[in-house]
Amino acid sequence: MTDVHPAWLPPAALRAIGSRRVSVRGDGLLVRTVIAEVAQACGRYGGAVVSGGADLVLAVSTVDCGPEGFAVSRDGGVTTVAAADPAGLLYGLFHLARLGEAAFGAPHPPRVHRPGHARRMLDHWDNVAVHPVMGQVERGYSGGSLLWHDGALREDLGRVTGYARLLAACGINAVTVNNVNVHATEARLLTDRLGDVATLADVFRPYGIRVHLSVNFAAPRDDLGTADPLDPRVRAWWALATDAVYAAIPDFGGYVVKADSEGQPGPFAYGRTHADGANVLAAALAPHGGVVHWRAFVYDHRQDWRDRRTDRARAAHDHFVALDGRFLDNVVLQVKHGPVDFQPREPVSPLIAAVPATDVAVELQVTQEYTGQQRHVCYLAPMWSDVLRCARGMAVLDGLVGVSNAGDDPFWTGHPLAQANLYAFGRLAWAPDLDPVAILDEWIGLTFPAAPDELRETLHAVMDDSWRTYEAYTAPLGVGFMVRPGHHYGPDVDGYEYTPWGTYHFADRDGVGVDRTCATGTGFAGQYPPALARVYESVYDCPDELLLFFHHVPYGHILHDGGTVIQHIYDTHFAGADAVVAMRDRWARLPVSSVGPAFAARVSALLDEQVRSAAEWRDQINAYFFRKSGVRDAHGRRIP
Ligand code: GCU
Repeated sequence: MTDVHPAWLPPAALRAIGSRRVSVRGDGLLVRTVIAEVAQACGRYGGAVVSGGADLVLAVSTVDCGPEGFAVSRDGGVTTVAAADPAGLLYGLFHLARLGEAAFGAPHPPRVHRPGHARRMLDHWDNVAVHPVMGQVERGYSGGSLLWHDGALREDLGRVTGYARLLAACGINAVTVNNVNVHATEARLLTDRLGDVATLADVFRPYGIRVHLSVNFAAPRDDLGTADPLDPRVRAWWALATDAVYAAIPDFGGYVVKADSEGQPGPFAYGRTHADGANVLAAALAPHGGVVHWRAFVYDHRQDWRDRRTDRARAAHDHFVALDGRFLDNVVLQVKHGPVDFQPREPVSPLIAAVPATDVAVELQVTQEYTGQQRHVCYLAPMWSDVLRCARGMAVLDGLVGVSNAGDDPFWTGHPLAQANLYAFGRLAWAPDLDPVAILDEWIGLTFPAAPDELRETLHAVMDDSWRTYEAYTAPLGVGFMVRPGHHYGPDVDGYEYTPWGTYHFADRDGVGVDRTCATGTGFAGQYPPALARVYESVYDCPDELLLFFHHVPYGHILHDGGTVIQHIYDTHFAGADAVVAMRDRWARLPVSSVGPAFAARVSALLDEQVRSAAEWRDQINAYFFRKSGVRDAHGRRIP
């Protein structure tokens, strides 16, 4: 097999630990993981695992730092990591890896680190059996699945162990092992193929990661002829099935459910609410301490484009607000960060603010379905950081969920630089206030332990603003969805304009954008808390980057910087495509030796594709709006 890239845990990431005398105190599986990590690092870098006289002590103790938390101090030449539970010790170990030699510098009193979200979960949209349209991984851009291959669990799970280790090192503690669209083979993971899930749980467990399962809401139908959540037989079916899951996997995390969404079955078929639906599963899980992640991604995907009153953005709020307070305690409503579908720019979903009596997890898309499909560099942490600031201002989040971008590709993530997105997702799930540039710096430091300044500067130059660059050359001003239908790569301005998916831009000869105001539009703006609703409702106060999400405006509409909408479209598209050329040039100046030939070559080839694709986006978007509006570019640049 091709060598697998070590991502952010090359051996040297643990050099500072491995070159010291280390004492590890505590019992249990996760402590054994810590000991194994330390012993391996010491074997490589000349340190030793000792019981006394250590430079580094990692100890489970009565320290007050909460579940999974840890405290780091340095005193008398000894660095101490103390944790109340073994998981905290594991996170403390990887924290030291990030600090490197700095962990052994000046003395300091205990510094406590606690996770910002209790559950930090990656959802794998992996299919067990290859799906005829979606393949092994739905929206996967990193080769095949790490877990499944051609209808079966992979025989060699060595890479899954490596993956679990990488995830623990950035703070992830839960993984869903199959796609939210649960097809026939995958439905069997709950029944006669439960053993596969148990095997995966065994692999993830030593790294503090619990396994969750996506289940099909209609699962009881085969046995009972119904999945009506209020039918006592259905209730008993879920209880029995769930008891069997816990008999096989005592620390099983719970279920993830996509119901009444894009063709998946749900409670509506029985005239029941989503609270009824979620609660029947929650009741089965509750005695075992499990949770249901119930997705709020419920909308009409068979909309008539002529019907201007139906607005997909409204759907989640319309469906779920009235159910607030009616979910059992172990239901977590899993809400996509934006009201539509993982576009490069959306406002934060108003549902997050509207269900105060319900636990909410925000779902982000680490896999780059709408952000360049891991062929484009698009470092997403700046977007996620904005999303989290806004979402956490609206509600206390129970958890953060990311759709994983990892696969069996030798670089894990297709684009080697997309590793930084996976890393950043974990870090923001742990510490949502971290600065995205600082996270990238951490990732660089771990991935390239001896990174010369030139490499560090190049990676920042190429990645720091790459999301804003991607936004600049794709759909303008928050309008979204000008992508090729089906696979969603590359531009197609009218690709979804007359489809049933509810993703329109309404461009005509005079203007563009979706009127979502209360005054004259769909009323979506009114779903926000009053202060924010007022901002979005006003065409003058609405932030420029969301203007076309909320308003239909003439091409001559003046933005906050004094320019017109049409000129903004031209300017950002020329600038965005130019910025990608600059990224490629910058990368080309980097000596290959600083990242290795395979890494360098993969990034170079993908940057060539990004340059091509960004030019295609620029030309299609500019030509489209020039033809619609007839307005020339103020700078006379060529628009084909
Ligand atoms: C998007 C994506 C689908 C996915 C869906 C979901 O629509 O294109 O592949 O199934 O989101 O989140 O359920």
